[in-house]
Amino acid sequence: MRKIIIAIDGHSSAGKSTMARDLAREIGYIYIDTGAMYRAVTLYAIRHGLFHDGGRIDEDGLRAALTGISVSFRHDEATGLSYTCLNGENVEKDIRSMEVASLVSHIAALSFVRRDMVARQQEMGRAKGVVMDGRDIGTMVFPEAELKVFVTAKAEIRAGRRLAEMRAGGLEASFESVLENVKTRDHIDSTRPEGPLRKAPGALILDTSDMTVEEQKAWLIGQYTKAAAGANNQPAP
Ligand code: DC
Repeated sequence: MRKIIIAIDGHSSAGKSTMARDLAREIGYIYIDTGAMYRAVTLYAIRHGLFHDGGRIDEDGLRAALTGISVSFRHDEATGLSYTCLNGENVEKDIRSMEVASLVSHIAALSFVRRDMVARQQEMGRAKGVVMDGRDIGTMVFPEAELKVFVTAKAEIRAGRRLAEMRAGGLEASFESVLENVKTRDHIDSTRPEGPLRKAPGALILDTSDMTVEEQKAWLIGQYTKAAAGANNQPAP
């Protein structure tokens, strides 16, 4: 089957990353977590004092630094998982902190940051054979993707999932603070002028509120099989 691009967008903690990562592993595609890229830039800004009191960002400082910020993904043979590197350093755990989560939407709303990240993502997917998850993949990064999915779930369910994920990674927070963060990010992500979170034309909607991870995975594999066969102009098996 011909290689395709799979664009998975949707709300925070709706299950996108797990589905996307599992699918990529199963079909031998490269998985790209674009949220991790915005998180890594946010971590860089925190570490370099680019957030002023009250959360204001030193935009000129960040703009000047951006070309020197490298974000890459590496594969850990031992765990079989990939991790995010910021200028070569493994920052996978640091980018999942509440501090980064509470500031990332502000960084992701800056148009010069978005333009730069979108260009990097387009380059990463040029050879196809990628599963990319984010907020604007089907609308801005790869509007021509052969398979586009918009994933959502109830906010309380998403907050519960995020909290479980954080605890598994050794981070602690209250359910209320995580729920508040999920809702605030939904609002910022869907109302920003540049690359707002929207269902792309032609995207399939998946509500994972009442679905198990296995059900989500099976659904996505089914959609991939149809899309890849269609891209090849061959009937689905
Ligand atoms: O998927 P995530 O929660 O790790 O994303 C972190 C933040 O980055 C989230 O607030 C939305 C933003 N984001 C974005 O604006 N565009 C993307 N393609 C991916 C993430």
